[in-house]
Amino acid sequence: MTTDPTQDPASFWEEFYLTRRTSSNGRVTGALQQIAAGLTPGTSLDLGASHGDDVIWLARHGWTALGCDISAVAVERARIRAAELGLAEQAAFQCCDLSLAMPDGPFDLVTALYLQSPVTLQRALILGQAVARLRPGGHLLIVSHAAPPPWTPKATPSTVFPSLDDELVSIATSDVPFDVIEARVVMRSAKGPDGQPASLKDNLVLVRRSQT
Ligand SMILES: C[S@@+](CC[C@H](N)C(=O)[O-])C[C@H]1O[C@@H](n2cnc3c(N)ncnc32)[C@H](O)[C@@H]1O
Repeated sequence: MTTDPTQDPASFWEEFYLTRRTSSNGRVTGALQQIAAGLTPGTSLDLGASHGDDVIWLARHGWTALGCDISAVAVERARIRAAELGLAEQAAFQCCDLSLAMPDGPFDLVTALYLQSPVTLQRALILGQAVARLRPGGHLLIVSHAAPPPWTPKATPSTVFPSLDDELVSIATSDVPFDVIEARVVMRSAKGPDGQPASLKDNLVLVRRSQT
């Protein structure tokens, strides 16, 4: 299946969730699980929250968690799941295009977990604004695909696979001072659509907004 990189992002992702990813897999992102274990729960914002698995995991672990996504259908499914789990108060969701608007915060934790797209996505702008939404001392966690998975068709255009430096440059587009806590490439075992095993390369960047 080929993607037109000029397609409107809202319609691309709505169609994606209506036809290609129709339900949640219920799994938390492993890197989030590890990093959050070392943080005191507070308020959090997940950028590109999809079906809300990471937001719901945070809510279960004491956070007051908010997720934003451009897809109305993904957001509605996330809301329904949170309500079914009795977590509607702790796990909230908003449908928004993060290139145009982002909740104000401030937040103790902002996450951008595989916030990548084969159609237009202003990642640098969004990540710069994300660090500005942190409370002083709050953390921004970015996990991104550093390379395409082997099963991605060669014809798939335009998804950006950033380097660690790219991620840090994006965050620095804001004037907000921050300290880099971790910036490393991690390998992750995964299975492709037909069950084929692969080792995937991710970027993991954790920064903390300076206290002043
Ligand atoms: C590759 S998926 C990752 C989803 C999820 N964070 C995960 O780890 O599985 C990217 C997500 O970003 C959302 N997205 C793409 N562009 C967006 C935008 N401009 N504003 C808000 N969400 C966006 C998509 O709808 C999709 O759910």
